[in-house]
Amino acid sequence: MSQELNFKQELVGCFGFPVAENPTQAMIEPAFRAMGLDWRYLTLEVKPEDLPAAVAGARAFGFQGFNCTIPHKVAVIEHLDGLGESAALMGAVNCVVRQDDGRLIGENTDGKGFVSSFKELADPAGKSMVLFGAGGASRAIGVEMALAGVKKITLVNRSEERGRELEYLFSGKLNEACGGGLEIDFVKWDSDFDIPVGTEIVVNATSIGLFPDVDARVPLNVDTLTPDMVVADVIPNPPKTNLVKDATERGCQVIDGLGMLVAQGVIGIEFWTGETPDAGVMRRGLEEVFGT
Ligand SMILES: NC(=O)c1ccc[n+]([C@@H]2O[C@H](COP(=O)([O-])OP(=O)(O)OC[C@H]3O[C@@H](n4cnc5c(N)ncnc54)[C@H](OP(=O)(O)O)[C@@H]3O)[C@@H](O)[C@H]2O)c1
Repeated sequence: MSQELNFKQELVGCFGFPVAENPTQAMIEPAFRAMGLDWRYLTLEVKPEDLPAAVAGARAFGFQGFNCTIPHKVAVIEHLDGLGESAALMGAVNCVVRQDDGRLIGENTDGKGFVSSFKELADPAGKSMVLFGAGGASRAIGVEMALAGVKKITLVNRSEERGRELEYLFSGKLNEACGGGLEIDFVKWDSDFDIPVGTEIVVNATSIGLFPDVDARVPLNVDTLTPDMVVADVIPNPPKTNLVKDATERGCQVIDGLGMLVAQGVIGIEFWTGETPDAGVMRRGLEEVFGT
């Protein structure tokens, strides 16, 4: 009796421009192999003007979903069939998920990944957080941490305009989605920042420290970091940033950028396959390519 054969691969991937340096494939494909799934994760260069055709192509090829990175996180929305709650609040999508009926729904896993890696160390509920940066990563982390119960966010950003825009979102729509009571402060960042006494969470969500600027320092007074704080850095490459080193030396609990990257990848795979992958396999895949 002949065995049933299936040579059809399921497809997911990442649309970006440029995209060649995006390491996501190095954590997702080993996870698929460890799960015994014959799935492929393709790193696809999609120019902004080709995005509509690329989404149509993903539909035609029956992609199970795809990640979106710069510059497509906002532009992709008009080509989708709907948005998850936090992606709608953020106005940005980094993970598209095909439903059983073929509809493509936009989700945002960046902030969800952050919350999941944070919850391995502590419960965000009722806590007070300092958040550096006002770009996409900061927006995603602020939204999900507030939905997870953080009570106060001190938003610190170099550009006042960008900072105020995020302050408006956080104190308006986000506060409403959280049922009210969310406290938001904005501080324009123009010198070394002193972490206020009583802060429990400190997050660098800027691009300071990202390769090749590995010697760059987040402008803050490291003497104001105390062992009762959880300090997180979003920079995945290199994962041992100066902030991670300083916070570790001062006895803080620390989350590095690889932790967040892996955790958002886990959530993406769960969305696409309905199964939970091995986070250890994924982290090792990334450590191999980053040589850490
Ligand atoms: N680990 C993960 O899973 C993960 C996921 C998503 C993103 N990330 C990382 O997060 C970082 C930020 O991404 P993004 O999408 O939020 O970028 P973005 O939208 O371009 O925002 C960058 C932010 O960094 C600030 N910034 C950059 N250089 C600065 C400097 N020298 N001094 C002070 N502030 C500075 C910018 O301030 P201004 O507004 O003043 O310009 C802005 O707030 C990237 O490095 C990315 O690799 C990691």
